[in-house]
Amino acid sequence: MPTILVLNGPNLNLLGQREPHLYGSETLADVEALCTRKAAAEGFKSKFHQSNREYELIDWIHAARGTMAGIVINPAAFTHTSVAILDALNAYEGPVVEVHISNVHKREAFRHHSYVSARADAVIVGAGIQGYGFAVERVAHLAHALRGPK
Ligand code: DQA
Repeated sequence: MPTILVLNGPNLNLLGQREPHLYGSETLADVEALCTRKAAAEGFKSKFHQSNREYELIDWIHAARGTMAGIVINPAAFTHTSVAILDALNAYEGPVVEVHISNVHKREAFRHHSYVSARADAVIVGAGIQGYGFAVERVAHLAHALRGPK
């Protein structure tokens, strides 16, 4: 079964405990369960990772080349700093959807720019963890379109 890769950047391991007024009370395990359910409903498996290390996210993106049907990524703070993650995504051929739990545009000015948005096929911002579900659905749709009619 084709697989959608879901990547999460730094501090998202603390989801549910970290600034709940911004990020809610649900945990990363809840996000993983949501992604698994949404992917299965679209006929995909999902693989879920979180890291606080930029290189690990880059290595997972490299490994996705030729193996993953699409990528959903919340790069967290690396969104606003990482040309390296943008470059890695530019070397990946499939659909990419960027997700942010909070509405970054209602927040500090330094969160308004995303390096990753220059590559993303869609960006989902401020929909809470529900945004991951929308992102998985969109990646599945784009992956199906790329593969053509059955
Ligand atoms: C975030 C927004 C980023 O600005 C922040 O650094 C995060 C989480 C979000 O999901 O809203 O860690 O990506």
